Amino acid sequence: MSKLVGILTSGGDTPGLNSAIRAVGKTLLHADDYTLIGFLDGYRGLMENRFVELNDAFLSGIITRGGTILGSSRDKPHKMPVGGKIMDMTDVIVENYHKNHLSGLVCLGGGGTQKNSYRLAQAGLNVMTLPKTIDNDVMHTDVSFGYDTAMMIATEAVDRLHSTASSHHRIIILETMGHKVGWLALGSGLAGGADVILLPEIPYDEQVVADAILRRTREGKKFSIVVVAEGAISKSMAKVLDEENGKEKVEAMLKTRTPQLAAKLEQLTGRETRVTILGYVQRGGTPTPYDRLLSTSLGTRCAEEIKKDKWGFMMAYQDTKIVPVPLEKVAGPVKYIPKNHYLLDSARNMGVCLGDK
Ligand code: F6P
Repeated sequence: MSKLVGILTSGGDTPGLNSAIRAVGKTLLHADDYTLIGFLDGYRGLMENRFVELNDAFLSGIITRGGTILGSSRDKPHKMPVGGKIMDMTDVIVENYHKNHLSGLVCLGGGGTQKNSYRLAQAGLNVMTLPKTIDNDVMHTDVSFGYDTAMMIATEAVDRLHSTASSHHRIIILETMGHKVGWLALGSGLAGGADVILLPEIPYDEQVVADAILRRTREGKKFSIVVVAEGAISKSMAKVLDEENGKEKVEAMLKTRTPQLAAKLEQLTGRETRVTILGYVQRGGTPTPYDRLLSTSLGTRCAEEIKKDKWGFMMAYQDTKIVPVPLEKVAGPVKYIPKNHYLLDSARNMGVCLGDK
């Protein structure tokens, strides 16, 4: 009898999701004794038992498509808005899983999805996951798919801002996404040749940033490009927030302060300052070849593990190899940029201001 596997995409969408679905699906369908269904809109579709059959025709021609053909949501199994209340719907999900006679479930998502998938594994379900996120903050994988595409989009923005900043002799600040981490800002800032890069991992001092810009002015450079991660905070704010609890810290980090930073830099440097908040364009459109290859290799290897009836792992990319990592290891911790990361060294060695000294 054919084995039934379910697949879903959860959390913010990311380029590469469709090529991952395609890779898992084609590998399983190629094995003949598997049938694949896709639950719609993440864990919500699993809870409401809404799914489509993913046959070969359905999986055809989707490798170039951005977003997710299955839809996504940020709903969590144990905290789902239902009828105006937040409910723990884990039991309903477990019931649907068994009612459909699933052999297992593949969940594609970022840090939150890894945690939620682990919860479902603890509830007795066979679960495998793949790491996707433009933030690149999933632990135990060198990189998640979606990051490369987002970095390309953000780098192009930095490139384009150079010419207009130069024409008008302005400071231009580009805010990237990234949630609580700075990978996207660091990657695109360095690749785009930004003069200042501000990251959540390194609280900044506005005066240090202003001094770096004034130094450039003295050297005859009439414009400056600042790339700031949405979660970056000033040293003074970090001090206040350290006295608050963790949840408030995260919420505060995710409220944009870039317009205030611009006003402060304008005041400290006397130079006209403009802001570009890149937003959701970073998550849109077709995946880069790198993201297609990464999601394809993670997806095919995931399906190979499923064929061996191996469950309870996230497929990760480590040192050029695809490896399974137990879900309990990836559920929870966030992959921040380590203080000694080689890209931070490169930035400092070239005189890029990181806002701290
Ligand atoms: O996790 C991906 C991400 O795009 C973050 O960079 C950003 O902070 C967040 O999602 C935005 O979330 P939402 O799509 O719920 O607005």
